[in-house]
Amino acid sequence: MLGTVHRDVIEKLLSRVTAKSTPADDIHCLVALTKVAATRTNPQSAATALALVNLDIKIRLQGLKQDSNWHDRITELYSELSRIDPVVPEVIAEQQGFGQPGHVLFLQHIPEDKTQTAIDGFANFVKTDVDYEWSNDVVFVIGRSGQAIHKQLIRDQVNNLAVQDAVLMVMARSPQPEDRMIYLDGLNSTQLRAVEASVEAIAKLPRSNDPDEQHRLLSAARRLHNDEPEYKLRESVLRLLENNNVQGFQFVYGNDGHNEQTEALTRVESYLKQRYPDFKPSLDGNAADQVLNVLHEVEWQKGDSTRGENLFSRLSCTRCHSGRKALGPDLQGVARRFSREDLFAAIVDPNRDISERYQLTTVQTKSGQVFSGLVVNESVGGIMIRDSDHKTYRIDSEDIDVKFRQRRSLMPDGLLKNVGDQDLADLNAYLRKL
Ligand code: HEC
Repeated sequence: MLGTVHRDVIEKLLSRVTAKSTPADDIHCLVALTKVAATRTNPQSAATALALVNLDIKIRLQGLKQDSNWHDRITELYSELSRIDPVVPEVIAEQQGFGQPGHVLFLQHIPEDKTQTAIDGFANFVKTDVDYEWSNDVVFVIGRSGQAIHKQLIRDQVNNLAVQDAVLMVMARSPQPEDRMIYLDGLNSTQLRAVEASVEAIAKLPRSNDPDEQHRLLSAARRLHNDEPEYKLRESVLRLLENNNVQGFQFVYGNDGHNEQTEALTRVESYLKQRYPDFKPSLDGNAADQVLNVLHEVEWQKGDSTRGENLFSRLSCTRCHSGRKALGPDLQGVARRFSREDLFAAIVDPNRDISERYQLTTVQTKSGQVFSGLVVNESVGGIMIRDSDHKTYRIDSEDIDVKFRQRRSLMPDGLLKNVGDQDLADLNAYLRKL
């Protein structure tokens, strides 16, 4: 008798979730459903799963904002629903519309034999929606698939700054020789995790005696000297150099070597000079000076702001300085705030004078998770970090193993390495108009 009553309640609650009901109302009904302990029929379980899937879609269609607790609330709601109705996580990935970035949180209770359906769900959306908002989580989900077509979807995102380190981490699991250049570029990432993944990937590939690779490894080694995790990574880079060149550099491994070790790195440099006398390293720290030294030769009055605007997007400045998801500061009026020299110094050498607000902080937890991003809040109890996906993580003080601030800016250096005088004048003309 009681069972029948409950089943009626379930039916009633589910019937209130319609195409027109608001996400807030739907959440109320779903919360109420968590209180009704009665066996569901299959259609009822499916309807519950669909209501969950549609929350995200409705939010987007109705242009509503998700508050900062959204993720946690829906995760909890979904867990409760899955507990009371274990069929929900079994069928959720089969629901129409499954595969939005926000659906990643539904993966946690999905049984193993249904994960491929879930991966396909995400992959299908990625393929059909050119504006799909990739997140690290989505990269990791699709990355679990062994299918070549899914691997390619991930590889295609290698220049998407928002997910670059996740892409590298996934690709590094089974590195392919033809992707070597991608890993070498990854050495320049501002994210230690991405550098680490790149180093691991290169280590799995056959040894190389390409002079460019040796110089890139040396530059990477030079940059890795801020703290414990960087020192450890530097050791892996040195092992690569020693292995590639079948040559020792008297580099000290282990704790005793956790200092600058300038002599060992100089030995590497001298060795490379001797072995590849004709090779000119394409770029390192001096690239900034190369640009700054020619500024006085540029004919600024010939600058064209329309060409400058094109250049601004071609050089990927727009990725961080335009639009809703801007990671860098608003550049409005920037040319009035800086002298021309300082303006270009800020562009070619972002690490020279970086405001604390834009410095990356990396936290490693005792369980080995690593978070990198900007600190949004810090107290005795813990720290809140926002990563380049605009996702916020809270880490309790007691869970923190290491925490350090990277001296690097989120903005990459070397952005102007291949531009000529006319380009500089154009870019200047454009920046002046902002
Ligand atoms: C990966 C994201 C990213 C890209 C790409 C990027 N920037 Fe930045 N930019 C930042 C961040 C973050 C800062 C603030 C921290 C700093 O000064 O390094 C910044 C700072 C600046 C500043 C100094 C602004 C100020 O008020 O201090 C200028 C000028 C600038 N960028 C221009 C450019 C130009 C021009 C390009 C393209 C050639 C570009 N940026 C590409 C992220 C980026």
